[in-house]
Amino acid sequence: MGFYALSAVFIAALGGFLFGYNTAVIAGALLLIRQQFQLDIAMQGWTASIILLGALVAALLSGVIADRFGRKKSILLAAFLIVIGCFTGATAVDNTAFIWGRFVTGLGVGMISVVTPMYLSEISRAKHRGAIVTIYQLAITIGILVAYGANYALAKQEDWRSMIAWGSAPALIQLIFFLFLLESPRWMVSRGKESKAHEIALKLGIHEELEEQPTEKRSRWSALFKSRGIRLAIFIGLFLSCFQQITGINAVIYFAPQIFEFVGFSSRDVAILATVGIGSVNVLATIAAVWLLDRAGRRKLLLIGTFGMAVALCCIAIAFFVRSPEVGAISLVGMMAYVALFAIGLGPVTWVMISEIFPLGVRAKAISLCTLVNWAFNYILTLTFLDVVAWLGIETTFIIFAILSAIAFLFVLRFVPETKGRKLSEIQKLFS
Ligand code: BGC
Repeated sequence: MGFYALSAVFIAALGGFLFGYNTAVIAGALLLIRQQFQLDIAMQGWTASIILLGALVAALLSGVIADRFGRKKSILLAAFLIVIGCFTGATAVDNTAFIWGRFVTGLGVGMISVVTPMYLSEISRAKHRGAIVTIYQLAITIGILVAYGANYALAKQEDWRSMIAWGSAPALIQLIFFLFLLESPRWMVSRGKESKAHEIALKLGIHEELEEQPTEKRSRWSALFKSRGIRLAIFIGLFLSCFQQITGINAVIYFAPQIFEFVGFSSRDVAILATVGIGSVNVLATIAAVWLLDRAGRRKLLLIGTFGMAVALCCIAIAFFVRSPEVGAISLVGMMAYVALFAIGLGPVTWVMISEIFPLGVRAKAISLCTLVNWAFNYILTLTFLDVVAWLGIETTFIIFAILSAIAFLFVLRFVPETKGRKLSEIQKLFS
């Protein structure tokens, strides 16, 4: 990879970091904010999840924005929104201002989550595409881990304002450096700017693959459902996005300290430390995924990942049922295994596949739709998880996640094709 491609990947991956950090940082910040602004339970839930609502709204609009103004300007706009949102949140004098800040941050994060994988897949060569889009997922996991670290480090001083403010630092870097980076040549092709597109593709080293990209005009939302091939791709993209969330990853990522306290970890510090352990496993397994994606292939990793998640979740649920003295240790090991299996399967592969299975003409809108579904299920799960646990019990909740993981496995087995190593233009033929 040349200099342009590498720097584009680095700066775009900062987007993943922004996604991970800004969504996860609320876990620690909320404990302090609820004291300062005297929040009741309902208000705490609202404060914690408002970022997801912002992301959901932005995901819907981002496809149209990315088509009209380009990938580069959309990423710049997203970074700008995150800076404004973090600033508003960190300086908030009451909870209303804080919620507005988090909502605007959510708009930026939602837009980032649509445009970054799209941009990364459009500037990569076929043989590296899986690894490059997985770098984005790696950046999400590093962002989550750093947020846990910031929570831990700043909790003693009760400094929630710095926790929130730090979320804007990578956005500022992105805002400055992205100004000098290249637009996606594939977007340029879709705008009919062929010669400029080829010039950029040459710099990125993807000119041979670009020539095979058909020049398609941007289409309307209805084009998503016109041909059978696109309908099938949409069906797969939507279900993968949904499974990525309903198999419970964010119950563990956002509520790990509560789960550990529930299973009897004696001190709060131990619970937080166990959470940092989970975050570290997530990062390490995603590093393995970067290496594996273009070697083992997407389908195989999805199958191993979903099957393994189902088994790990069953083991955790059984430990909860039996209430053996080792329940703490078993649930910690089980959760680490579950997170590692997500991190090599549904985590990265969902983002990789939705960035590569749609034809250029409908790509931005289709990714937008899948990402919207992803945020919507994330929002519903986050809002309801604690209530469901109170209602059904933690054992049954985990059994439900296990069953959903098993259904995800069967879905992949039946419907998801292998896209490893294929050019973007070839992948569409798999669906027609
Ligand atoms: C998911 C996030 C999740 C993260 C965990 C991402 O792929 O979209 O919802 O928090 O992985 O690593």
